[in-house]
Amino acid sequence: MLQINAKSFSSRPILILEVLPTPAYKKKLIEVALPLEAINAASAREKSIRHGHPSTLHLWWSRKPLATCRAVLFASIVDDPSSRPEEFPTEEAQEAERQRLFGIIERLVKWENTNNEAVLNEARQEILKATDGHPPPVLDPFCGGGSIPLGAQHLGLEAHASDLNPVAVLITKALIEIPPKFPGRHDYPEENR
Ligand SMILES: C[S@@+](CC[C@H](N)C(=O)[O-])C[C@H]1O[C@@H](n2cnc3c(N)ncnc32)[C@H](O)[C@@H]1O
Repeated sequence: MLQINAKSFSSRPILILEVLPTPAYKKKLIEVALPLEAINAASAREKSIRHGHPSTLHLWWSRKPLATCRAVLFASIVDDPSSRPEEFPTEEAQEAERQRLFGIIERLVKWENTNNEAVLNEARQEILKATDGHPPPVLDPFCGGGSIPLGAQHLGLEAHASDLNPVAVLITKALIEIPPKFPGRHDYPEENR
């Protein structure tokens, strides 16, 4: 793939076409491999969690499990090790690194680790490393129950969301907009959490 930049240097209408090579495309982990068993098991288990899960805030049909969202977002941002041959020159080294990333995902998808700062920070650091400290913002224009923007927020990503349905918008606002305004507040009754 080639990229064409057009430049004009003088008042005379001269157009110089500069042909630049496009930076090599880096495959993301999600394009190569995922620890599906762990993601599937954690996602299925979430369906039966009745305490503290966003689904208890308001019913939303087709709500995606948080485990799936966190795993998919993470694996869409970090590179597959085969895209970093300077760091992982052999297939063995790439596979070892892939397994290390799988370990992060396996910890990330566990419901018990939803608010585990050590586990979340491990994933956030990996994202920062993969994006040279500039992680992309996430936009979910069909946010429904808000799982994807909430998963993005857990990973330290700037999250934006919208939906045609005002109920979906209200649920998502309650999930991702209101709680950050009251950090550390747990002064509501335990039975209502
Ligand atoms: C499958 S649901 C999304 C589920 C969401 N990922 C979750 O985890 O809850 C699809 C959503 O798209 C919304 N939608 C459908 N058509 C739309 C449109 N034209 N613009 C914005 N939202 C739309 C629906 O209201 C619905 O909430």
